Amino acid sequence: MAETGARPRVFATRPLPGDGLARLAAAAELEVWPGPGAPPREALLAAAARAEGLLCLLTDRVDAALLGAAPRLRAVSSVSVGLDHVDLAAATARGIPVGFTPGVLTDTTAELTIALLLAAARRVVEADRFVREGRWREWAPDLLLGRDLGGATLGVIGLGAIGRAVVVRARALGMTVLGWSRGQTEVPGVEAVPLDALLARSAFVTLHVALTPETRGLIGERELALLPRGAVLVNTARGGIVDEDALARALASGQLAGAALDVFAREPLPPTSPLLFAPNLVLAPHIGSATLRTRARMAELAVANLLAALAGERMPHCANPAVYGPDAARR
Ligand code: GLV
Repeated sequence: MAETGARPRVFATRPLPGDGLARLAAAAELEVWPGPGAPPREALLAAAARAEGLLCLLTDRVDAALLGAAPRLRAVSSVSVGLDHVDLAAATARGIPVGFTPGVLTDTTAELTIALLLAAARRVVEADRFVREGRWREWAPDLLLGRDLGGATLGVIGLGAIGRAVVVRARALGMTVLGWSRGQTEVPGVEAVPLDALLARSAFVTLHVALTPETRGLIGERELALLPRGAVLVNTARGGIVDEDALARALASGQLAGAALDVFAREPLPPTSPLLFAPNLVLAPHIGSATLRTRARMAELAVANLLAALAGERMPHCANPAVYGPDAARR
C-alpha cells in the first residue's frame, strides 16, 4: 500500500467511537494520540512529520505550516463535514487529497437544530433552572411563556443537506419556511428569498452555511437589526458566521428574544465571552453530530477515505478533487 510496500504510517489525533480505528490498525501502522484532549500543536506537527496519512478532527489545524513540515504526507482525512480547519488550497498545491464526512451526520445535526429551536422557543433550559433553584412556588397562567413554532416563519440560511433536513422537520412542525443560499437552491416547501428579506420576515432563523471567507461575519449588527423584534437565532453551523459581540448586544436589548448556539468563534467558549452574560441564550458545546451511531459512522467514513487514498485510489468523499486532475471535479 505504501510506496515502499510497507504498511503506511498513519497518525490519528484522537481515539474514536466505533470500529473505524480497528479497521485502520489492520491496514496501517497506526499511532493514536492518547489524549487527554487534542494533541498540542507541537505534538501534532511532530506526528504529522512522520506520517503518510493523517486522520484529524475539526480541532486540529491542518494549515500550510503543518503540510510543509510533513514531507511524507499523502492523505488527510477529517472526521467532520466542515473543513474550515484545513487549508484546502495548500493541500491541493501539494497534491494531497482531503477527505470529509458528509451525509452521515445530516439527520443528527438537523435533530439538534430542532432541539435548540424548541429549547429557545419554549425556554426549556430556563425552566429547568427555575425548578432546580426552588423558585417554582405555584402554577401560574403567565409562567415562562414561550413562543409557538407551529404557524411561525423559519428562515433557513444555507440549503445544503443539513439545511434541507431542517426544512423537512420544520415543515412537519407546521412552520412556514423561507430559504436563502448562495447557490439559490430550489427546495420544495421553501420560499427562496434574498437574505435581507429572509431576515426581515423570519421570527426564527437557523444557520447552515459553511464557514468561508464569504460567510465569516455574515450575521452582524446590521443583519440582527433587520430581524423582527423578538426573533430567535439558532446556530449549529460555525461560530465565525455570527458576530458574537453584536449577538450579545441584540439579546441584551431585547431585539432578539432568544438564541441557541452549538458553535462559537472560539471553542471552547472563553470564560470572558460576552455570550456567557447574555440573557435568554441556550449554549451547547459543539454537539451537532454527537450521537454514538453518527460519530461511529463518521469515523468509518473518514477511515474509508484515508485507506482509499493510501491505496492510491480516489477517496469516496474528497473535498479537493482537483488533486485527481483537471477534469476530476466534473466527474
Ligand atoms: C461538525 O461540526 C462537523 O463539521 O462535522
